[in-house]
Parts: sequence; C-alpha cells; structure tokens
Amino acid sequence: MSASLATVSYIGATILFILSLGGLSNQSTALRGNLYGMIGMAIAVFATVLGPKVSGFASYAWIIGAMLVGGAIGLYAARTVQMTQMPELVALMHSMVGLAAMLVGFATYIDTSIPLSGAEKAIHEMEIYIGILIGAVTFAGSVIAFGKLSGRIGGKTLLLPGRHYMNLVGLLVVIYFGREFLHAETMAAGMTPLLVMTAIALLFGVHMVMAIGGADMPVVVSMLNSYSGWAAAATGFMLSNDLLIVVGALVGSSGAILSYIMCNAMNRSFISVIAGGFGTTAVKPKATGDAEQPVGEVSPINALETAEMLREAKSVVIVPGYGMAVAQAQHTVFEITKHLRAQGVNVRFGIHPVAGRMPGHMNVLLAEAKVPYDIVFEMDELNDDFPATDVVMVIGANDIVNPAAQDDPTSPIAGMPVLEVWKAKTSIVMKRSMASGYAGVDNPLFYKENNRMLFGDAKKMLDEVLTALRA
Ligand code: TAP
Repeated sequence: MSASLATVSYIGATILFILSLGGLSNQSTALRGNLYGMIGMAIAVFATVLGPKVSGFASYAWIIGAMLVGGAIGLYAARTVQMTQMPELVALMHSMVGLAAMLVGFATYIDTSIPLSGAEKAIHEMEIYIGILIGAVTFAGSVIAFGKLSGRIGGKTLLLPGRHYMNLVGLLVVIYFGREFLHAETMAAGMTPLLVMTAIALLFGVHMVMAIGGADMPVVVSMLNSYSGWAAAATGFMLSNDLLIVVGALVGSSGAILSYIMCNAMNRSFISVIAGGFGTTAVKPKATGDAEQPVGEVSPINALETAEMLREAKSVVIVPGYGMAVAQAQHTVFEITKHLRAQGVNVRFGIHPVAGRMPGHMNVLLAEAKVPYDIVFEMDELNDDFPATDVVMVIGANDIVNPAAQDDPTSPIAGMPVLEVWKAKTSIVMKRSMASGYAGVDNPLFYKENNRMLFGDAKKMLDEVLTALRA
C-alpha cells in the first residue's frame, strides 16, 4: 500500500472514530457507534500492517503471530467476563496500553536505525521520556486499580505521611533526570536516567491509586482510561503515527470529560482525584462510626403485598443498582414494566450516573432487556418528580438512594448527589439483607416510615412479584 493510500485510510479511520464517539453518547445510536468504531479499527490495522512502514516476511510473521495470540486472549476474555467484572477487565486493558507505551519507548530509544541530531534528536528524546513516564504511571496505576476492583488488594486508602511532598520530590527528580537524559552523550549514559525515571513513575502510579479510597474507584478507572489515551498518543509521537496520536487524544480527552462528569456525580473534586489522595480525608471506604447511625425499625413487605401496591399505583419509578446486575433481574424487571404499562401505570426508570460498577452499567442491562429508552431517565431528570410518585422500587441499589448524603455532613458519602426516593409516597427496597453497599455506609432510608423492605434475591423476589401481578 502506498504512503498516500495509508494516509487516506488513516483519515477515514479517524472520521469513523469520531462518529463512533458521537454515536456512543446516546443509547439509541450506541450500536451504530460501536460499529463505526469496529470498522475504523479494522481499517486502521490493515492500513498499518499493509502500509509502507512494514515490509519483509519476518515482520508479517511477527505481526500475524501477535494478532493471533492477542486476538485469542481478547476473545476469550470478552466471552467469559461477567458484566460485574467489566471494570476490572477495563483496568487490565489500560495497564496493557501503559505497558505498550513503556516498551515502545525503550525500543525506540535503543533503535539507532534513524540517525537524528540537533533539535530533532532532542524532540525525539523528549517524546520517549514523556511517553515512558505516562506509560509507566498508567501501567502501575491500572494494575493496582485491577487489584482493588477484583478484591485482590484491600479497598482501604494508603495514606503515607507527607505523601504530597513525596509526590512533589518525585516530580522534581523526574524533571532533573529528564535534563540528564537529554544531555546524555551516549545511549548507555541516557539509559540510567531513563530507568530511574521509570522506577519513580511506577512507584508514583502505585502510590497514586493506593491513596484513593474504594468509593472513588469509578473515577479512578475513567481517569486511567484518560491516561491510557495520552499514553497511546505519546506512542504515536514516538512511532510518528498520526492516527495513534489522534486516537490517543480522543481517548484521553473523552476519558477526562467522563472523569469530570463522574466527579460531579460523586461530589469529588476532579483535581483532588487526579492528584491522587488529595481530599480523601472526607472519604472513607467503610463507615467508622463517627457518622450518625440510623435509628428506628424497618418495615418488611412480601412479594404479594408489593404486587398489590404496584397494581394500585398510578406512577411507578424503578431505581436499579448493582444488586439487579448481580441477580440478573433485568428481564423480569422489564416483564413487570410491560405488565404495569399495559394496565395504564406510568412506569419510568431512574438511573444514577454511578449506579452499579461501571459507567452506563444500568443502561447496558436495561437495553439488553429491551426496556424502551424513552422511559429511562437520568437522576436529574427525575428527582423533582418523586413527591408525585406513588411507588419507587429500588432494586439492589443502596448508596445511590442514601439520604445521609444530603442530611449527614459526617457521612463518608456526604455531598454525593442521590436519587431522592424517600420523597415518594412509598419506597420499596429490594435486597437480601441490611448489609451496606459499595461505600460501606448504613442507609437511613431503610428505617423511614414510608419505606418497605422486600428481603431476598432480586430475581427471585421479582419473579414472585410478577407471578402475583399476573394472578
Ligand atoms: P451499592 O451501593 O453497592 O448497593 C448494592 C446493593 O445490592 C447491596 O447493598 C446489596 O445488598 C444488594 N445486592 C447484592 N446482590 C443482590 C442480589 N442478588 N439481590 C438483591 N440485592 C442484592 O450499589 P449502587 O446503589 O448501585 O451504588 C453503586 C456504588 O458503587 C456507589 O457507591 C458507587 O460509587 C460505586 N461504584 C460505582 C462504579 C460505577 S462507575 N458505576 C464503579 C465502582 C464503584 P445485600 O447484600 O443486602 O443484598
């Protein structure tokens, strides 16, 4: 393939990637968005493999071998991963992007096939230094995020004394060694500052994510997504690959925007989370007793009574959470929705931006169950409607409906915007026990007078409710 054809293919792939991101911003166009992304990636891979920079049988053998191994691992992971394990998989993939950026950086440095001098050499070396730096932070941070999300590493924050000063000293040392690296006369002399910087960047990545509490992990995952984009862009600079630079920048900036949106949804400061550990004083992964403990009694309800309440309601809001995903109850939820709508009940869904364990988790499940998009609403669109709602069914959700976020300034989730379900005439919370949710805090909603608890596995209880409704 000629260089100009490869460039045209890259432009086509870039346009498809932009269309893909546009499509992914809305549920009804998400499928098309995915398709654009897949076609764009296929074009990008073919244009690169068949492009002018690859030649010789050995190169093709390496590339095809790597694609087969990587493709097989990817296919296996995609087929076996549970929806609830998605954030871990995403974190692991980000670590691969970081690792790739590091390896490409070192490989580019020791590759002397293109002799450079003067300003060109300095710019090239700066690309290498920054590329390895971002790659190492992304790699180490993502591995720790994977460990935390999969429960291999405890969710507790590691707050070392003077940690901000340590980070600052690390940054100054990285800048100093950057200067040493650029002034190195030989490759061997440049390797020492490069290795020292890599070690510091790896330690910083570990330290940054270890300092972030369990409740902030969603933001960390999307932030590492952004870092992996910048790592890919840096790789693009090192390899002089325009498409990689553009795609890296797209991923980097969209990840940063998503992190910002999620920070707002969780009332965390964006800068604090990026800096790693700043502001975690107010964030504790587990309740430690200084927050007010809810008082009162809970009122249990059974499936038959729940069905009765739903039948008599004119307006129902369903709030799904992580428990609905675990129980795989989305299909029964939709059957109940269809039944109630057929009886003239106004049924809507209220989705919190961080419900479940990954961005858009609930939307994906509801779309899979074929719930129409026009009855699925964002938290902000529904919050004013709760006082006029007869019944709210909270299915396996906890933190996202916790009134302590508004009422108790000492609560670890104080200030997090929540769905104000307690303002409805009746709320019914469906979960197996009184156990807390991801943030580890008790929920005063369970003790409110207008709240009922339907204890049991969400799928099992909803099946019983559906049977009672149909009876
Ligand atoms: P959570 O607050 O984690 O509550 C889920 C509840 O589901 C639990 O209290 C659990 O209670 C219940 N449950 C579990 N299995 C169940 C089953 N089989 N049937 C019925 N109930 C079941 O979930 P949420 O309200 O969706 O809030 C999400 C939380 O996760 C937030 O704190 C958020 O910050 C965090 N987080 C979000 C993300 C993203 S990006 N969305 C990523 C990581 C973390 P029982 O054990 O009593 O059943």
